[in-house]
Amino acid sequence: MILSPSMLSSDFANMESELKALQEAGLEWVHLDVMDGQFVPNITFGPPIIKAMRKKSNLFFDCHLMIEDPGRYIQDFADAGADLICVHAEACTHLERVCSQIADAGCKPAVALNPHTTVDSIRYLLPQLHMVLLMSVNPGFGGQKFIPFTMDKLRELKAMITDCGSQALIQVDGGVTPENTPDLVRAGADVLVSGSAFFGFPPYSQRHKTFMEAAAK
Ligand code: DX5
Ligand code: ZN
Repeated sequence: MILSPSMLSSDFANMESELKALQEAGLEWVHLDVMDGQFVPNITFGPPIIKAMRKKSNLFFDCHLMIEDPGRYIQDFADAGADLICVHAEACTHLERVCSQIADAGCKPAVALNPHTTVDSIRYLLPQLHMVLLMSVNPGFGGQKFIPFTMDKLRELKAMITDCGSQALIQVDGGVTPENTPDLVRAGADVLVSGSAFFGFPPYSQRHKTFMEAAAK
């Protein structure tokens, strides 16, 4: 299991030290939540901030774009230093085109699905995806409660990925804690995002260990 801490719950005034602390705690990924106030009812940051973060960190930048029509900005996020760009299926009319744009820009393509969106919507894209993100809360805010039916969706997606021989990773985002980590990993999650349940419990090296031990249960 890979843990991808969500910077949404970090100290925005001290991102440089937060990024350093993650790296020192043995994390390899960091989850960057981009929100536009349209697709979701909240606004965070965009390419200029990610570019500034890139200058301070070698972590794998797992960029979750919660923005309308993200195809307009793929090159900007790639230039800013994104490693993976994840777009919402619900925000793209031509999802295949946007995934190709991401790959052409030299980044790993991923698609996120809101809680109500069926996994079938990305069946034909699986061969070209590096990752599928299952939202386990309605996107927009940290600290929300995990929606239980996500667990069924996760099993369904895992079976679909296995059946078609795809290498796509499954990421779960929203309300993830050390308590639900064992079930999520058993159901097929490869990457877990954690915001409030990670940053709220320093030191990060200990919290990372707690999640990894839960994943091995
Ligand atoms: C929610 C974001 C998540 C958020 C998760 O819209 O996509 O990445 O930071 O936060 P927690 O782990 O607190 O639910
Ligand atoms: Zn996210």
